[in-house]
Amino acid sequence: MQRITVSAARGAAELTAIVIGHAAGPFPPVIEEAAARIAAKQATAPLLVVTEQGPFVLVKPEAKPWLTGGEAWRLLGGQIVDAARQLRVGSVTVVAEGEGVEAQALVEGCVLADYRYEAWKKKEDPESRPRLTVRLPGYASAVREGVAIATAQNLARELADSPPNELHPPSFAARARRELAGLGARLRVISGAAQLRRAGFPGLAQVGQAGSSEPCLVEVRYTPPRDRQAQRDLHLALVGKGITFDSGGLSLKPGDKMWEMKADMSGAAAVLAALTRILAERPPYPLSAFLCLAENLPDSRAQRPGDIYRARNGTSVHVENTDAEGRLIMADALTYACESGATHLVDLATLTGACIVALGEYVAGAMGRHEDWTRQVCAAGAAVGEQIWPLPLHGEYRKLLEHPHADINNVGGKWGGAITAGLFLAEFVPENVHWVHLDIAGPAMANDGWRYYSKGFTGFGTRTLIHLARELAG
Ligand code: BES
Ligand code: MN
Ligand code: ZN
Repeated sequence: MQRITVSAARGAAELTAIVIGHAAGPFPPVIEEAAARIAAKQATAPLLVVTEQGPFVLVKPEAKPWLTGGEAWRLLGGQIVDAARQLRVGSVTVVAEGEGVEAQALVEGCVLADYRYEAWKKKEDPESRPRLTVRLPGYASAVREGVAIATAQNLARELADSPPNELHPPSFAARARRELAGLGARLRVISGAAQLRRAGFPGLAQVGQAGSSEPCLVEVRYTPPRDRQAQRDLHLALVGKGITFDSGGLSLKPGDKMWEMKADMSGAAAVLAALTRILAERPPYPLSAFLCLAENLPDSRAQRPGDIYRARNGTSVHVENTDAEGRLIMADALTYACESGATHLVDLATLTGACIVALGEYVAGAMGRHEDWTRQVCAAGAAVGEQIWPLPLHGEYRKLLEHPHADINNVGGKWGGAITAGLFLAEFVPENVHWVHLDIAGPAMANDGWRYYSKGFTGFGTRTLIHLARELAG
């Protein structure tokens, strides 16, 4: 349950938050003094000061080179919410005015920072987290936008945080249906390994055939209403990796932190979450989305290392390692998206540990053949504080995926694992399609608490997709 409301209306509040450098005052003398000390670096923000006029929290956007795309302001939102929670107040008014106020990011920070996954917790003391109202007078549109975007991202986080016994492919598909109802898109769900094979998704069938529940492909189709002038030659498609649990399959993973693989559906979650916003805005171009949902588990029906199958586009695939399952479930969906007329394609996947080795936990990797499109997707991320960095789809490494018995092997060598995974996917995307593969293994999985994120998964990519889709709408 969301316990936070953000309002642009004026009203009494139990706590006042002052954004230093962006608030004119006048404030009580102690507050002016404290603000001056922080500005002079003799004290650090956030600073809680209790006065006769009530409590104040003084915050200041940090000028760190990596806090771009509104991140400094999202962090402020987090600090303000934390202060309110610490004081157990029910309302806080934020004083911020003038040039340079990034109100929407601040609102997003409030809503993102207050998220907790507590569906399975016993009812806790309601006093400790009462309903909280954050007031940001005068910023109605920033409040509306910020709440909508952060609420969407919190949906992606909730799905990633949900345990894999509860969130499996059928329940994910049902949730998708519920979240997208009434948004003007058609939804089709293909479930079961046999049905998926028949429909031309053998990779998803291979990976999901030993799951404790049926693998599913969720297909979302949107065509713009007639009065929205359709943009010619643009059809955006989004594909998300939705492994609701990745044990590795018969190529079983070590037990340490295996639980984190409940969030191996973070790509699909970000796609679904972004769709809830994108569709609400009724973009002027056709949009398709594909959620590839399966559990990667070992049992007697499981695919074996050594299996060879023929993918939708005719390529035969040798499965050397069943833990390299993400590329198998995505490949046919990418082909299908292109068959459906996609001109621009983005896939999101927690695809490789190697990408975390390459770029660390906070930066996603981007791979594509069309430099302009790759750059545009990275820029969309930068604009909303999601760091995405290009990795080269270096063709010389394609030889690492060669296999004597099949057209392609599902793993490359020891090195460059994020890139060989990208090259594998590239095999299933015609060259004329503007496609970018985002390996979000690091930032989606950073679950130890980060910036304004409490412990749990982040929903990374949601904001980038929303921003990108809006940019394309012009
Ligand atoms: N879901 C994992 C990748 C992953 C690992 C995401 C750690 C987040 C954190 C993926 O399915 C996987 O297992 N990849 C293998 C590929 C390897 C077998 C070529 C990996 O990265 O080890
Ligand atoms: Mn795996
Ligand atoms: Zn995986």
